[in-house]
Amino acid sequence: MAVVPYKDKDTSKREQVAEMFDSISPKYDLLNHVLSGGIDILWRKRAIRELRSSKTPAYSPKTILDIATGTGDFALEALALKPRKIIGVDISEGMLAIGRDKMKKRGVESIIEMRSGDSERLPFTDNEFDAVIVSFGVRNFENLLKGLTDMYRVTRPGGVCVVLEFSNPRQFPFKQLYSFYSRTILPLIGRVVSKDSSAYTYLPESVQAFPDGPDFLRIYETAGFTNTKWIPLTFGVASIYIGHKLA
Ligand SMILES: C[S@@+](CC[C@H](N)C(=O)[O-])C[C@H]1O[C@@H](n2cnc3c(N)ncnc32)[C@H](O)[C@@H]1O
Repeated sequence: MAVVPYKDKDTSKREQVAEMFDSISPKYDLLNHVLSGGIDILWRKRAIRELRSSKTPAYSPKTILDIATGTGDFALEALALKPRKIIGVDISEGMLAIGRDKMKKRGVESIIEMRSGDSERLPFTDNEFDAVIVSFGVRNFENLLKGLTDMYRVTRPGGVCVVLEFSNPRQFPFKQLYSFYSRTILPLIGRVVSKDSSAYTYLPESVQAFPDGPDFLRIYETAGFTNTKWIPLTFGVASIYIGHKLA
């Protein structure tokens, strides 16, 4: 059964995820950085570095699609690649509104455009982007394979896809420490700050149920990506997955 944020509602996972992110959007950035001790920022930077070094010579994509862009932090990190255009898409209007404000304040709204859009029905033509990126988004998809397949469709031949997502540490004592933290401390802080009692219970539950490591790579390859690579971060608390679309 799908892991959803609001178990007592009979709406779809997609609707519940959008509702949850709308509800926590004012506190999302703050909670992200507090709950991860700021490591989420380093993970996004590392993922962009891996995108750059995914090809020889270093890859500098001119058009980038940031799926599940939320408040746009991954899109902002991708500016380091000096692209011509970054489009961020998300299903939560609340997250997008905060992201658009952020882009204006930083004076980058002509490069980063934030649009409403569903990862499983991307409003773009085939082969449109040099790179497709997504951080902490794929775990929330209603249908993971469908989302990844659509990401593959809009990547141009020769293009690269980078996925950054939470994963499950497997080694003692990180596995036990992380499990304790994510089941007790994280939901407590999340509930108090965001006032949404479900959102930060859904987070560890959805991470645990998510196929990570080699299991993710299998689905990534089924979606069409080749030369795939898994890079575990911080004892496996998060992972980067690189995939290529053959030229
Ligand atoms: C945890 S946030 C990540 C935001 C941002 N990428 C970051 O690194 O902070 C997950 C985002 O995925 C979005 N999302 C979930 N399912 C989606 C879908 N099917 N299509 C587009 N966005 C989706 C949510 O609305 C939310 O903004």
